[in-house]
Amino acid sequence: MPPIEIRPGIFWIGVNDHTTDLFEGLWPITQEGVSYNSYLIVDDKKAIIDLAKSLKVDEYLAQVGERIALHELDYIVLNHMEPDHTGILRVLRKLAPQAVILCSPQAKEMVTAFYGITENVRVVQDGEEVKLGGKKLVFFLTPMVHWPETMVTYEEESKVLFSCDAFGGYGALQGAIFDDECSQFDFYLRESLRYFANIVAKYSPMVLRAIDKLSSLQISVIAPSHGLIWRKRPEHIVERYRTWSQYAESGGEKGVTVLYGSMYGNTEVVVDALAQGIAASGIPVDMYDARRIHASYILASLWEKKGVVIGAPTYEAGLFPPVAHVLDLALRKNMKHKKMLYLGSFGWSGGAKRELERLARELDWEIVSTFEFRGGGKREDIETVRKLGEEFGRLVRGSF
Ligand SMILES: Cc1cc2nc3c(=O)[nH]c(=O)nc-3n(C[C@H](O)[C@H](O)[C@H](O)COP(=O)(O)O)c2cc1C
Ligand SMILES: [Fe+2]
Ligand SMILES: [Fe+2]
Repeated sequence: MPPIEIRPGIFWIGVNDHTTDLFEGLWPITQEGVSYNSYLIVDDKKAIIDLAKSLKVDEYLAQVGERIALHELDYIVLNHMEPDHTGILRVLRKLAPQAVILCSPQAKEMVTAFYGITENVRVVQDGEEVKLGGKKLVFFLTPMVHWPETMVTYEEESKVLFSCDAFGGYGALQGAIFDDECSQFDFYLRESLRYFANIVAKYSPMVLRAIDKLSSLQISVIAPSHGLIWRKRPEHIVERYRTWSQYAESGGEKGVTVLYGSMYGNTEVVVDALAQGIAASGIPVDMYDARRIHASYILASLWEKKGVVIGAPTYEAGLFPPVAHVLDLALRKNMKHKKMLYLGSFGWSGGAKRELERLARELDWEIVSTFEFRGGGKREDIETVRKLGEEFGRLVRGSF
């Protein structure tokens, strides 16, 4: 795509990725795609801020070439070493050996470890400034948003914050690159939450720290390295990120995620009855069949909602594995402080409930009630469970 000027002298030179199925080898983006936003600043000095994954290298270099010759490039700013932003580095270094790599103290060794580059790398400290002409870059270290070496770059004249992973989201750009041009706003917000839950959520305290640290800056544009560029309402995505980060402590907002799986349908019938009860209590319910829906999507809902229903039969004296897999990820992502209800069928001596109770302790999830039953749910069970659902919905609603 041709470069797009986002402010005078500042160009988006990113690429869309429509061929990677799994972001980080883990999170599905087959349908949604992702963008690697890279930026070129043309002033007396020329700088590129963040690169792209090692794909579409020709397209990327052609975009740079529309504005400058590579031998004119003075700086390559690496806000973050993850290869989705640095994959092109080795090629770029060969083509523009004179360009000085600017990176955080912790990134320097990583530049060598990942790319074997030792020459022409300059470490910048927190708050350090580099003048480009009328424009000036200021660097702020934001450790663990998303790796220890992560920083953000602020261009003072145009008040653009190049925030890298912070404020980013899945979803390839569809022509429109700005928040105010885009007609798929809900899609990008949904994909930002999924990205947050998958990638950043574990580091919520560091996100809040970074937002605090940057709060005194005047920001006219937030230019992240994935997804939309926020020039009309940069505060919108900052507020979203702040709210999502606060869920780490609060456990989320009003609503219930129903996460279930079933081998022969016994658990499923009862889960359906329970969901009816929750819906009748007037609280939002999202249902996810763990057998078929990738955990990436379920984690977004789990992160956002305070209430969780786990519906899982016993499988080999433990939890049905597709459900256990999502819970394992929730634990790894630090998704804590939920209110939970469990139901599930078993055949002889059970075991799912026991495993869930152990997990709940680790997750710091409060078990509000459990309903474990042998074989198929009886008629009266269905009625009991529907009532349980209503009570659970009211309890979750009442906790706000
Ligand atoms: C592969 C497999 C393993 C199972 N392991 C156990 C077990 O260890 N303990 C138990 O009580 N029931 C076990 N069961 C029985 C199921 O928990 C029982 O059939 C239950 O009703 C299944 O619920 P569903 O219809 O929701 O899948 C197992 C069933 C299958 C198919
Ligand atoms: Fe990252
Ligand atoms: Fe990234």
